[in-house]
Amino acid sequence: MKTACSLVLLTVIVLFVDVLTHPTVETFDSEKSVAKEVSNDKKDIYEFGVKIGSLKETDETEEKKSYKGYQLWKLNLDSQNKSKVVITLKNNNVLSTWGGNRTSIDVLISRPNLRTVQRRLDENLINYKVLIDDVQEAIDDENPPLNPEEDEELANRQGHRMTFDSYHRLSDIHGFLDYLAVTYPTYCKVYVIGSSVQGRPLKVLRISNGNSGNKAVWVDGGMHAREWITPASVSYIINHMAHNYDSETHAIRSLDWYFLPVANPDGYEYAHTTDRLWRKNRARGGYCTGTDLNRNYGYRWGGAGGGKNPCQETYAGTGPFSEPETAAIKDFLQRTSQQWRASISYHSYGQYILYPWGYDRKVPPDWTDLQKVAEQAATAMRQATGQYYTVGAAANTLYPASGGSDDWAKGTMKMKYTYTIELRDNGRYGFVLPASYIVPTAKEALAALRVIGEAAAAT
Ligand SMILES: *[C@@H]1O[C@H](CO)[C@@H](O)[C@H](O)[C@H]1NC(C)=O
Ligand SMILES: *[C@@H]1O[C@H](CO)[C@@H](O)[C@H](O)[C@H]1NC(C)=O
Ligand SMILES: [Zn+2]
Repeated sequence: MKTACSLVLLTVIVLFVDVLTHPTVETFDSEKSVAKEVSNDKKDIYEFGVKIGSLKETDETEEKKSYKGYQLWKLNLDSQNKSKVVITLKNNNVLSTWGGNRTSIDVLISRPNLRTVQRRLDENLINYKVLIDDVQEAIDDENPPLNPEEDEELANRQGHRMTFDSYHRLSDIHGFLDYLAVTYPTYCKVYVIGSSVQGRPLKVLRISNGNSGNKAVWVDGGMHAREWITPASVSYIINHMAHNYDSETHAIRSLDWYFLPVANPDGYEYAHTTDRLWRKNRARGGYCTGTDLNRNYGYRWGGAGGGKNPCQETYAGTGPFSEPETAAIKDFLQRTSQQWRASISYHSYGQYILYPWGYDRKVPPDWTDLQKVAEQAATAMRQATGQYYTVGAAANTLYPASGGSDDWAKGTMKMKYTYTIELRDNGRYGFVLPASYIVPTAKEALAALRVIGEAAAAT
């Protein structure tokens, strides 16, 4: 394994000496045009019509993965023994797990494995129901293609390509942030805080009245590639806040808001082009690709729930912050403000508002404050759209997972109000949530964010 590993690394270094040279923090230059071009040579990266670099590597030669005949089942796990049966099936690659909690889990099963799984479940008296009977059909239906002419016309009319009735590619989301910075230069500003494994920029939009000494709130989405509802929801929130900034409350306007809609841009693009259900980043260091960015943060890294094998979906990486994506976020947060008060990381799915700790079934000393604000957020979400969100400490409510961004934000960065919010749904569609759910889900996400922002401003 060591040799294969070094060979891959060497190949990467030799092939891609042509690395990106943009500075780590780049302030936005509003003189430049907002036009964002997609190059014919897909390896080039363009910003504002200027080539800023080339991808270090691409996944383009891979064939698109089909999930034809795959099914999603919800299993009822009312005993430890039943959970063990599922873990064994997972470790033997007979199924993969999606969302779940301590008593229920959704599993993805390929067609050839359906009968084996059914037999094992029956033997162990595990009840299940089929949620999706052909996952590829659900994938084909979730994101209606844009009409290119209408898209072009819309882009010309509004100055960007973003809409909230479909899931957009990375360039549309980044182009939208640039557009807002040009349109609202007094309070919107774009930062490129680093780049991904393959060289894509990590773009943050700050919304702030610019007063020095403001308390700050961090918001991210898209850390897991397949959770498409999260970049869409963060984009919706940004759109809403930028367009209505003057009518936000004094508390909301007293904060510096930092939004990173796509924390895992390589994975996000890969989920669009090649494998819709990809989760990790695209790090190639071993015999399997990808590190789970939400197991790679440095607080209690490497404990329960963080995978040690690079082939696992929850592989924690070679060390804390081994990935450029998490390292860039850490560096940016540590040098940007002394006044971080809250952090919101949007994930999907399951409809939960979770606070630390994730690494173990414990809670921080001020957990009652976290619980109270989370309950207020859940109420606001229910008032927004009627949906229920479950509140609790992460490991207690779901399962222990160390190396998460929320534990690091709380444990190392000492941000008081630190949450992971699992957006819709409850498993009806899981990760393949149709685009028609973007607006209602994003309204909930915004309602929760306002409550957490008010609490942060009051600290
Ligand atoms: C769980 O498994 C253990 C050992 O495999 C067995 O002794 C025990 O009876 C099982 N419990 C239940 C509730 O099935
Ligand atoms: C776990 O998930 C199941 C199915 O989605 C749900 O019915 C149950 O209420 C959940 N339990 C908790 C503690 O959230
Ligand atoms: Zn996630």
